[in-house]
Amino acid sequence: METELSQQLGIEHAIFGFTPFPAVAAAITRAGGFGVLGAVRYTAPADLARDLDWMQEHTDGKPYGLDVVMPAKKVEGVSEADVEAMIPPGHRQFVREALAKHGVPALAEGEPSGWRITGWMEEVARNQLDVAFDYPIRLLANALGSPPADVVARAHDRGVRVAALAGSARHARHHADAGIDIVVAQGYEAGGHTGEIASMVLVPDVVDAVGPLPVLAAGGIGSGEQIAAGLALGAQGVWLGSLWLTTEEADLHSRALTAKLLAAGSGDTVRSRALTGKPARQLRTEWTDAWDDPAGPGTLPMPLQGLLVADALSRIQKYETPALLGTPVGQIVGRMNTERPVQAVFDDLTRGFERAVDRINRIAGRSAS
Ligand SMILES: Cc1cc2nc3c(=O)[nH]c(=O)nc-3n(C[C@H](O)[C@H](O)[C@H](O)COP(=O)(O)O)c2cc1C
Repeated sequence: METELSQQLGIEHAIFGFTPFPAVAAAITRAGGFGVLGAVRYTAPADLARDLDWMQEHTDGKPYGLDVVMPAKKVEGVSEADVEAMIPPGHRQFVREALAKHGVPALAEGEPSGWRITGWMEEVARNQLDVAFDYPIRLLANALGSPPADVVARAHDRGVRVAALAGSARHARHHADAGIDIVVAQGYEAGGHTGEIASMVLVPDVVDAVGPLPVLAAGGIGSGEQIAAGLALGAQGVWLGSLWLTTEEADLHSRALTAKLLAAGSGDTVRSRALTGKPARQLRTEWTDAWDDPAGPGTLPMPLQGLLVADALSRIQKYETPALLGTPVGQIVGRMNTERPVQAVFDDLTRGFERAVDRINRIAGRSAS
């Protein structure tokens, strides 16, 4: 599955895999794709260095990348404590009541919250970059807007390509103007933060808007046939996030959550602000329902919502509270029905791609005769 971009990057298959788990990212790279490690949860630079050391040892010298979350708008001189102080007491009370209703125990005294997502803070993301640029990463991806000009320049000085996610042609053009090398056109079906335009409409829009810049199709891709569709729409590769969550290498820390993902149908996700304050697709649970209920207090804007719910999400995950347990995931969850190694997923993707190409070739042959 080669394209101009995959050839330039020296990968066998034009399949890019976003994942928060180093073992998954390394396995994607080893399987001939391009593993991209999500850095948003690494608040301590030493932890990121440890995992990049591990990636370096487990990728057989093949290319991999890093994804940071650097918001387009910088908030000057505001600390995490300042942001915490802006959370209304009524919202904190709502969280306490929601957890009490389901009997979710508290974390132990001083136990760190694994969900604390401060990687969105520019300072944290810049610390991550200081670490990452010491490693031979080949791609730096950014969610939530174009990275700042100095970051793009720093990456380019080191021969690192820069990718950014876009949910509309307008976003994509903005990235192109900011000197980004690869645009990830991520549709409404996708897990995580998403816009409102479905991949089938978005991908050709973005290809037209930024061509000849390479575009990766993202959102709702879980089979080789869907990869073929993305490439047919003009993409030079695909970018998958959800599909890896049920691989054997993924470390979700919760068997109950894996079981929920395996059982979920394509209609069991919701695009909700409950997680971060910006619309993000995730499993629909009683927790997301409570936040989306007009009778409740409603969600707070990013970054307040993320800080408000961080400890609660850690508690829900630790105690595996079934009704509340969730994760970002896209509509493709309906096809994530077995737990398999990354290599087996790749084998399936490449076989499905070949089937799709054969089918199209047969149709083309019939049309020509
Ligand atoms: C669990 C999860 C976490 C994600 N976190 C991030 C993130 O931190 N940064 C980012 O750029 N994209 C993130 N995404 C979005 C992915 O990069 C990707 O665009 C998306 O998953 C593609 O759609 P799909 O889920 O249908 O495969 C996340 C997706 C999932 C499923």
